[in-house]
Amino acid sequence: MHATALAHSNIALVKYWGKRDRALNLPVAGSLSLTLGGLATTTTVHFRPELESDLVSLDGRELRPGSVAHRRIADFLDLVRNDAGITSFAEVETANNFPTAAGLASSASGFAALALAATHAAGQQLTDAQLSVLARRGSGSAARSIFGGFAEMSAGTRADGRDAHARALAGPEHWDLRCVVAVTTQGEKDVSSTEGMTRTQETSPLFEPWARTVDADIAQARHAVETRDFALLGRVAERSCLGMHASAMAADPGVIYWNPTTIEVIHRVRRARRDGLQIFFTIDAGPHVKVFCPARELSALRSVLSQIDGVNDLIVARPGQGAHLLES
Ligand code: ADP
Ligand code: DP6
Ligand code: CO
Repeated sequence: MHATALAHSNIALVKYWGKRDRALNLPVAGSLSLTLGGLATTTTVHFRPELESDLVSLDGRELRPGSVAHRRIADFLDLVRNDAGITSFAEVETANNFPTAAGLASSASGFAALALAATHAAGQQLTDAQLSVLARRGSGSAARSIFGGFAEMSAGTRADGRDAHARALAGPEHWDLRCVVAVTTQGEKDVSSTEGMTRTQETSPLFEPWARTVDADIAQARHAVETRDFALLGRVAERSCLGMHASAMAADPGVIYWNPTTIEVIHRVRRARRDGLQIFFTIDAGPHVKVFCPARELSALRSVLSQIDGVNDLIVARPGQGAHLLES
């Protein structure tokens, strides 16, 4: 009744922002991402009949039952228990090897790893599509981290959400890209992704116009991935990112994930591109900037980013594998 799984974080190139059903965590629109090798969550789940509640440790600290993070995991385990017909509580040990709740998609790798570990610990073997549906219930972005390389999430049309899952577009070996994360602060963000997108959807006049751009952006990004058109992928990714953040900033009260360094990095990336470097940026719900380049440009990109005051750290990721079991 135990299993250990590893999943990588992912970065959206066409953003997911907004839910059409909060209970089932169904997105308003699709999204498209790259799974990031190196940014990983490792999770062990052990169902134990003697426990009286779920015992969860995240990054080495025990979560208090009743806290938001504990409830999120316990509610998720309930889905697995209901499906597998088991009643035991579980001991869960999970750790991220990168900052948690900071805008680096810890909820993505976290719930992808939990979906895989918990179902195996419960004696179930789901298909990747079924795992993706399940992971989505924990966090929308987690549906994509089931898959390696480039993944496309479908919003689906069914009310029960069973067609709202991701699929693999191209494996990690398809395109030798690097994603360099310019870390611009320490610590967790003030507004979670869930809260930021809910407020945007409920109050921002820019939300619906932005949401209407997603389908066309996904089609272009998919084409750019298939043909390895770096310039096109960059154009789509930057406009999806800036449009999503613009819609969030126009919420009431405005949701602003950026700090001065975030903006400085944007300008430096664009200047370096004008000077001939093949690079583009994207930013999730947080202040850090993810900068993409073809592998051969990595050292030039590193030197651009390391010269920026306020950039505390660089994390280099390459296209990563999908979620997999380490032990069961
Ligand atoms: P992020 O940008 O890191 O995804 P979110 O606001 O989307 O930020 O989600 C952060 C939340 O995800 C955390 O507060 C916690 O509730 C949950 N989370 C993070 N890491 C894990 C993990 N390894 N296992 C389960 N839940 C996790
Ligand atoms: C900006 O997947 O973290 O990173 O479904 O509420 O858990 P929940 O939200 P989450 O949101 C991610 C938002 C984003 C864009 C993206 O990853 O597509
Ligand atoms: Co998240």
